[in-house]
Amino acid sequence: MNKEIVVSGIRSTGYLHLGNYLGAIQNYVEMQNNYDCYFFVADYHSLTTHPDPKALKPNVFRVVAENIASGLDPEKVALYAQSDLPEIPELYLMLNMMAYKGELEKVPTFKDKVRLQPDNVNAGLLTYPVLMAADILIHRAVKVPVGKDQEQHLEMARNFATRFNTRYGAEFFPEPQVWRSNADTVKIMSLDGNGKMSKSENANATIYLSDDDDTIRKKIMKAKTDSGPTEPNSEMPDYIKNLFVLLQVSAGSEVTQTFTDAFNNCNIRYGDMKKQLAESMVSFVGPIREKAAELQRDEQAIRKILKEGAEKARASSAVTIAEARKLIGINYY
Ligand code: TRP
Repeated sequence: MNKEIVVSGIRSTGYLHLGNYLGAIQNYVEMQNNYDCYFFVADYHSLTTHPDPKALKPNVFRVVAENIASGLDPEKVALYAQSDLPEIPELYLMLNMMAYKGELEKVPTFKDKVRLQPDNVNAGLLTYPVLMAADILIHRAVKVPVGKDQEQHLEMARNFATRFNTRYGAEFFPEPQVWRSNADTVKIMSLDGNGKMSKSENANATIYLSDDDDTIRKKIMKAKTDSGPTEPNSEMPDYIKNLFVLLQVSAGSEVTQTFTDAFNNCNIRYGDMKKQLAESMVSFVGPIREKAAELQRDEQAIRKILKEGAEKARASSAVTIAEARKLIGINYY
């Protein structure tokens, strides 16, 4: 019962793709056996862009189903919706008193949003890192599995935690640290060779966990290649290396070695490699897609998972909030 506490938030918008799966979700699955894990769907965060009210539930339920289909076990972790923990907005309010306008305005993700949506620069957007800090500190987590793009947010969470501790004279919040898998974190590139798969704006170059077999085949067959190496043991271009990573993940070492040898001997046929990759990727993604679809059809099961997850999470968040109130001086009765 002395496992370290881990928190991570899952975005509720967008479909999960192979980049998420091989990055974030596999980290979660690795952590769930060794840590006290709180994983939640960040539905409050999604409100910054005013999504259609009708879209919220299907998005949240889909994300839950896809994560479970990818190996997250709701028996082992607390899997919940952020909005089911009223203690999060309460701590968010408290932490807002520790967060300064100047530092919030300097956050690169905020500046990006200002550029991308100048007509909707709301306070929720500005205080996004404060809400994220509340998500983490509400369970007094010490480890947070997130990607590079979230490191600055995490640093801010540490600052808010320290300021709270200093102001109220207590070692109350630990400083949460970024957690990275020991296993080489695989970076999956977009199939068109332009940047990360997760950042890809080209849906045709992104393999979603919900893609059907033929869509997967089509996308793989269209992946960027070239006319092949002309000198033995050449360095692989990024987009070719990416196909090898995907082959390794879906087909294993033996098949990958065969094509690596062919590459090194300059007799690789990318058409053949892609055919192989397409088939192994179909076998890899198919079961995840089917399991997620099956779960999504069972709304009641998802509701039960979220309710139980919220109960587990509230056992922890209620304690934190009660103590935080006391430290602040809100204990009148
Ligand atoms: N900001 C994170 C993202 O965009 C999601 C998130 C919200 C999160 N709250 C969090 C991640 C708390 C880790 C911990 O991916």
